[in-house]
Amino acid sequence: MSPASTCITGIRELWTVGSEPGSGRTIRDAAIIIEGDRFAWVGPAAEAGSADAVVDAGGRAAIPGWVDSHTHLIFDGDRADEFAARLDGQAYAAGGINVTVNATNSASDERLRTNIRGRLRDAWLGGTTALETKTGYALSLDGELRSAELAAELYRAGNLEAVTFLGAHLVPDSPAYRDNPDAYVDLVVGEMLAAVRPHVQWMDVFCERGAFNAAQTRRVLEAGRDAGLGLRVHGNQIGPGEGVALAVEYGAASVDHCNFMSDADIDALANSDTVATVLPACDLSTRVQFAPARELLDAGATVAIASNCNPGTSYTTSMQYCVATAVLQMGLSVPEAVRAATWGGARALRREEARDGLPALGAVEVGHRADLQLLDAPSPTHLAYRPGMPLTHSVWRAGERVVA
Ligand code: NIG
Repeated sequence: MSPASTCITGIRELWTVGSEPGSGRTIRDAAIIIEGDRFAWVGPAAEAGSADAVVDAGGRAAIPGWVDSHTHLIFDGDRADEFAARLDGQAYAAGGINVTVNATNSASDERLRTNIRGRLRDAWLGGTTALETKTGYALSLDGELRSAELAAELYRAGNLEAVTFLGAHLVPDSPAYRDNPDAYVDLVVGEMLAAVRPHVQWMDVFCERGAFNAAQTRRVLEAGRDAGLGLRVHGNQIGPGEGVALAVEYGAASVDHCNFMSDADIDALANSDTVATVLPACDLSTRVQFAPARELLDAGATVAIASNCNPGTSYTTSMQYCVATAVLQMGLSVPEAVRAATWGGARALRREEARDGLPALGAVEVGHRADLQLLDAPSPTHLAYRPGMPLTHSVWRAGERVVA
């Protein structure tokens, strides 16, 4: 059991991360007091009050836990062959999703539970303290419901922050829909949505050539909105398209991928409340052009970084890898990348402020949920300076030390 209050002192460099770009504080020789599941005090160690327990950070750096706002954790099987074919020059196409659909639908509930728990454990070990995950690898009424129920178990247990219904991931490879993909959209916005609705908070759609067109995307977003769900969109991943524009038009909380962007897409995001979620590990694995995160930030858009853990395009939960890639390949500074992977993710989940009795996430601020990581480094700059190194030293999630 955690003590009632804990003072973490001896922090050489704390990046608190703030709501406005550049507004977070860097506090040297810092201390943090956690009470219950919240941060109760943050400041210079010399000014810290007393607490029931004291942890010496030993001169390490501290940042908020990662908020991973885009993952697909509910699946079985892998697609290493497809990945190897990409290394030989084959382009990524969404059709591989059906390979995972077959494997997932053949797996038992217990196997899927074990898979998801293992992926969550890996994420926590890497400093992630808040995750969204999606359905979308079943694409049948019973299968999507099963995925939603499995995710909802973890949501209710406090292990996930958000569950998203992605029945509109791909039209399944079935004779029933081959010549009539709209019949599958009917199912998604009708019976499937009604069945999963008690288990999910978000609705998502893959708006892309080879997945769902603009008219189908509108139907999905309208159905989600009418059902009272928050909206998200997979857009502009494989080529230019209408995903970003539709996400902004429908007030989606985020549009994710954002690789093939026009100036109008960037402007639209900059003048909206829709977060541009970039997925650096996916961009590397699919060998597609990087999302223009630098241009998006310069234009004034809010950018989040997420892992997109899935077996097709990004088989990793490592947010450190994503942050290092965003810095080394996408032109972000380390503070920008850390903010995008913490506060940005929280904003994409609409959890950057306290809401519906739930504490805010994504920053080390008094009253926020006590999600924190100590790095085995004197400064967070080491996240990009020493990419690939095991820099997570210890992790607190909702005030509990989950990685020692
Ligand atoms: O976010 N783009 C769509 N969905 C996943 C990939 C799905 C797959 O290929 O399995 C993504 O990259």
